[in-house]
Amino acid sequence: MDKQYFYEPSRGHGLPHDPFNAIVGPRPIGWISTHSASGILNLAPYSFFNAFNYTPPLIGFASLGRKDTLVNIEQTGEFVWNLATRPLAEAMNASCAAAPPEVDEFQLAGLTPAPSRVVGVPRVAQSPVSFECKCSQIIRLRGASGAETNSWLILGEVVGVHIAQALLRDGIYDTAGSQTILRGGGPADYFEITPDNLFRMTRPSYP
Ligand SMILES: Cc1cc2nc3c(=O)[nH]c(=O)nc-3n(C[C@H](O)[C@H](O)[C@H](O)COP(=O)(O)O)c2cc1C
Repeated sequence: MDKQYFYEPSRGHGLPHDPFNAIVGPRPIGWISTHSASGILNLAPYSFFNAFNYTPPLIGFASLGRKDTLVNIEQTGEFVWNLATRPLAEAMNASCAAAPPEVDEFQLAGLTPAPSRVVGVPRVAQSPVSFECKCSQIIRLRGASGAETNSWLILGEVVGVHIAQALLRDGIYDTAGSQTILRGGGPADYFEITPDNLFRMTRPSYP
């Protein structure tokens, strides 16, 4: 790799498409259900999403702008993460429409809300895995200069976990068989986890 392309993002990438989220990819999708203070349901995908801690389990996602999901979580302190899978890909995509707050994206995407056990926000009945979450922190992101961005990192503690029995093989969660979808770069790229993607590597012991 002796020839390298280099750019400083603050001066522009100089390429036909910004490679940033194609490089940091594919990313898991935070398919987040919430409701407003008045009870209007909301569902939207967030691929600036990941898990950050085991005990307690913490997950988080970034809202680029003050979107309905962020506003709802500020109001209720709760959200549910739902696993997006290949059979649910089109519904996940439909749920990202920039609909006004009074529109319920469950209805828009033809999905069924199922009651949660610990929080008041429903999960997606069709999704094989859901995490019920209580918001732990909302952080307004800053650049290196300290200047505030218009993005917020929303973190939540997972307080309830639903897993379809079919994805528990001898009690082991079957990631390879889950048909989880991940977001690539560009306007339309996704990847699906399939069993042939799996390889195993154990950590080295030292010395
Ligand atoms: C796969 C996918 C990933 C997305 N990731 C993000 C993200 O990380 N952050 C964000 O602000 N918007 C993201 N969006 C766009 C939001 O889903 C979209 O703005 C949506 O309308 C927000 O809904 P809300 O206002 O109901 O929260 C993504 C869209 C798709 C389809």
